[in-house]
Amino acid sequence: MTSTATNTAPVSADQVTTWRADFPILQTQVHGKPLVYLDNGATTQKPQVVIDTVSRYYETTNSNIHRGVHYLSEMATVDYENARAVIRRFMGAASDKEAILTSGTTESINLVANSWGLDNLKAGDEVLVTEMEHHSNIVPWQMVTQRTGAVLKVIPINDAGEISLEDVRQLITERTKFVAISHLSNALGTINPVKEVIELAHQVGALVLVDGAQAIAHTPVDVADLDCDFYAFSGHKIFGPTGIGVLYGKQALLEAMPPWQGGGDMIRIVRFDGSQWNDLPYKFEAGTPNIAGAIGLGAALDYVTEIGIDRIAAYEGLLLAYTQQQLATIPGLTPIGTAKHKASIASFVVKHVHAHDLGTILDSEGIAIRAGHHCAMPVMEHFGVAATARASFAFYNTLEEVDQLILGLNKAVEMFG
Ligand code: ALA
Repeated sequence: MTSTATNTAPVSADQVTTWRADFPILQTQVHGKPLVYLDNGATTQKPQVVIDTVSRYYETTNSNIHRGVHYLSEMATVDYENARAVIRRFMGAASDKEAILTSGTTESINLVANSWGLDNLKAGDEVLVTEMEHHSNIVPWQMVTQRTGAVLKVIPINDAGEISLEDVRQLITERTKFVAISHLSNALGTINPVKEVIELAHQVGALVLVDGAQAIAHTPVDVADLDCDFYAFSGHKIFGPTGIGVLYGKQALLEAMPPWQGGGDMIRIVRFDGSQWNDLPYKFEAGTPNIAGAIGLGAALDYVTEIGIDRIAAYEGLLLAYTQQQLATIPGLTPIGTAKHKASIASFVVKHVHAHDLGTILDSEGIAIRAGHHCAMPVMEHFGVAATARASFAFYNTLEEVDQLILGLNKAVEMFG
C-alpha cells in the first residue's frame, strides 16, 4: 500500500498561490525584489504548520523522552513516537522498528556503512555505487571498503546523466555484496531505475541502500514496493527541520546489525563485563535525539500527504518541462543532465559565464539558485566542468518565477557575453 493518497488533479495558479501563503519566508524581499527561491535541492522552505509545531513543542512540551516518569516527558515521548509512526507510514514501512531517526541522510548512510559494512564486508567483496552519487553516498563506502579490503566499483553514467541496466547487469556479480544508489540525483535530476537495480542485486544476494535525499519530496516513495533493504532521507529536504533524518531498514537486517554509536537509550543493561542492546529502533538511536526535529518532520509529512505527493510530482514535472524549454532559448547554455526520466532539478553551464557569476547576478535579482559541484565532484568530472548552476524546484514555485530566472540569465549573458 502506498503511504500517500494518489491525487493528480491539475494544479491551478490559484492553488499554487494558496500553497505559497503557507510559507512565510516566500514573502521575503531580497535586494528589494521578491524572493524567487530555486534552491530547494539544497534545502526546502518550511510551512507555518511546521514552524508552529516546533515552537509549540518548545513552548508546551519540551522535555527529554523515554526516561522520564513526569507529565512533560510522557507528552514529549508520545509526540516523538507519533511522529515516527507518521514517518513510517509516509515511506510505506511495515513497522516502527524499521524507522530509525538520525540526523540526516549522511548519518543514515554512515550508520549502514559502519554497522552493516564493517561487520559483513571482507577482502575481495565488491560494493557498487553510481558515478552520479552525492559525496555522502560515496565517501562512507570508500572508508568502509578501505578498512575491510573490499573493492568499490562504479556504475558509469552516459552523457545524458543516466545509468544503463546493461552496465548494472555486467557489474553485479557473485562478488557484489552491496549497492548504494541515489533515487534522484541532486546534481542532474536523474531518476534512477532503482526497482530494477534492486531486483538485479537481490538475484546475487546483494543488499541495496537507496539514497532518497532528493527523491523524497518530489516522487512517491514506497519502500515495500521498491523492496530496498535500506532507504535514507533528510527532513529538511521535505519541508521539515534541519538535523533530523530517517533510515529505513528491513527489520531482519537491522536486528542482525550491531549498534553503530553507543550511549544512552540504545542499551537495555550496562555492566562492566558487557552490555545488552535495546530493541529496534532504539538500538540505533544513542543519546538524546532531535525531538523537536522529529515532531516537526511528522508535521511536514502530514502537510505533504494532505497535498499529495503524486500531485506535487505532476506539477513539478510541468514546471521542469517549461524551464527546460525556456533554458533552451538562452545563448550558449548547455544543460547538464538530460535524462529521459528526471525531476525537479535543472543544472546547466553557460559559455563564458562562470556558474558562480550566474549565481551572483541572479541573487542581485532576488533569485536564489545554487552554483558549485553540488557535492557530486565525479559528476562534474564526467561532464568536464568545475561547477554547474542549478535551479531546483518545489511545488510552491511558479511559471512566473521561471520567467524571472530566464530574464536574469539573459541579463548575465548580456553582461559577460
Ligand atoms: N546536497 C545538497 C544539495 O544538493 C546540499 O545542494
